[in-house]
Amino acid sequence: MTSIKILVTRKLPVSVEKRLIDTFATTLNATDKAYEKEEILDLAKGMEGLLCTPCDQIDADLIGRLPSSIRIISTFSVGYEHIDVKAANARDIVVTNTPGVLSEATADIALLLMLGASRRAYEGEAMIRENKWQGWNPTQLMGIGLQGKRLGILGMGRIGREVAMRAQAFGMTVHYHNRRALPDAGVAGAIYHDNAESLLGVSDFLSLHFPLNGQTKGFLNIERINMLPANSVVINTARGGVVDDEALITALKSGRVAAAGLDVFDGEPNLHSGYRELKNTFLLPHLGSATVETRNAMGFCAIDNMEAFFDGKTPPHTVS
Ligand code: DGY
Repeated sequence: MTSIKILVTRKLPVSVEKRLIDTFATTLNATDKAYEKEEILDLAKGMEGLLCTPCDQIDADLIGRLPSSIRIISTFSVGYEHIDVKAANARDIVVTNTPGVLSEATADIALLLMLGASRRAYEGEAMIRENKWQGWNPTQLMGIGLQGKRLGILGMGRIGREVAMRAQAFGMTVHYHNRRALPDAGVAGAIYHDNAESLLGVSDFLSLHFPLNGQTKGFLNIERINMLPANSVVINTARGGVVDDEALITALKSGRVAAAGLDVFDGEPNLHSGYRELKNTFLLPHLGSATVETRNAMGFCAIDNMEAFFDGKTPPHTVS
């Protein structure tokens, strides 16, 4: 396969880049600066595969202008809302993603967000770093405990299940909504709700785990926020676009929602500035899958997809 030409849009972990170079005629992005659309189109000339990331907007216009030599778009991510799959398929370009390998790491970050938001980690950290801590105090920075709380998981896929297992270890009761009940969700005792509204009503903590698409954009709006119990905590490791930022910020300001832990943002990295101004937010820069082990596994999965394709097989993780 060493003559097959592959364009990689961002810098990838060293061992992933090594395997790419050993396997294909690979053009890497040595600068790690995200390419503009025109740069991708220019660099894609004569390429047969495109290995992209969630920060590249592979929209219908770009796909329509890709050289006909491109036959596969392999994204270094489980989410693929940045790729117009329909437009790609219409040009007979196969699209693949990397599910499974990042579930544990993302679930870890969901728990970090739950703890960070509910235990006021941002305020505590700031107190220390700004040298404002006057010593232990019985009423200082009292937060919300996880023990005995109800966790509502919206979308019980692989990541949702990993979050559920971790939350149970913290003494939480797990509730979930999914398109269908999962008799063997791997999470004993998880309580199924057949509609999202019913789940919202019991979610002392709400964790979002569903993809962004035309139906889910702005899902967590003011009406749905008002269905949550008082003092609830909202966690998002899915995609920023599933939350109506204005509505959540208003609810955080008024105390209708006690706190939010967010790893993803609409329009990231240009998040709504309102989040930064609030003390009851715990914010991370899309770190869900950011461990060495996971980023390597994502890269190898993206390569496996391309290897299978160029070997004449159906790639293991084809999306349509
Ligand atoms: C994904 O794979 O979609 C993640 O958001 C990257 O962390």
